[in-house]
Amino acid sequence: MDDYAQFIAKVKRKTGIDLSLYKEAQMKRRLASLYMKKGLKSFAELFAAMEKEPALWHECLDRMTINVSEFYRNAKRWEVLEGVILPRLLAENPRPNVWSAACSTGEEPYTLAMVLAKRLPLHRVSVLATDIDDNALARARLGLYSERSLVELPEEMKQTFFTKDGEYYKIDEKIKQTVKFQKHNLLADPFPRNMDLIVCRNVLIYFTEEAKRMLYRKFHDALRTGGVLFVGSTEQIFNPGLYGFEVEETFFYRKK
Ligand SMILES: C[S@@+](CC[C@H](N)C(=O)[O-])C[C@H]1O[C@@H](n2cnc3c(N)ncnc32)[C@H](O)[C@@H]1O
Repeated sequence: MDDYAQFIAKVKRKTGIDLSLYKEAQMKRRLASLYMKKGLKSFAELFAAMEKEPALWHECLDRMTINVSEFYRNAKRWEVLEGVILPRLLAENPRPNVWSAACSTGEEPYTLAMVLAKRLPLHRVSVLATDIDDNALARARLGLYSERSLVELPEEMKQTFFTKDGEYYKIDEKIKQTVKFQKHNLLADPFPRNMDLIVCRNVLIYFTEEAKRMLYRKFHDALRTGGVLFVGSTEQIFNPGLYGFEVEETFFYRKK
């Protein structure tokens, strides 16, 4: 086994995270730049250093998980969700089960909660939000954001759902309470069931084709018939019929 393959095996034994399911060139480059920054010469040396210095695990995890996110990211897609997809889903189930998978620092699940709160009484809004990264989840639970993450959010939602706290924007406490954050590894942990809507955006791009195919099947199993998978704007599913989906709108796949 080469240096990187051995590193992958050791990380998997230690954390359960299977780096072989992430695109190799990208991941290798990101992690190699970490060991070079530390003055080390190989993945073997990086792993040995991580064993001696637990803080390095955090740095390594930071390189593996790219946490960039924004409220109402790719606004046009959210408009389609609000105008076309949600009206149908809510007519079919006025108490929808919604999951933001790979939710990063919370912008996406809070966007979902806000969008739902415009149409439903709050006691019927409930969003499951999961990510592999504990640090991102901690920031999500805090609910404090800089102006930069709100640029795409319509002004009236900003006014309704945030209060300004110094240079930060604080998400409304009632919206916060509708979102349940949980640690979850998409590539290893069991999926929930009977979902009406799964939002999984800007993470599939990091995975190998094999991992993506496995995930499409698992998302399909996690949805109710008629439920929808909403993916990122570079993540169109090639041949959705193969996985039991049909296109409802671009980037929205309905379970047949
Ligand atoms: C670029 S962010 C996307 C955030 C949000 N979905 C969005 O589109 O704005 C990618 C997220 O995927 C998470 N992630 C990476 N691998 C994962 C895995 N195997 N299981 C769950 N989350 C994972 C990272 O921790 C990171 O927070």
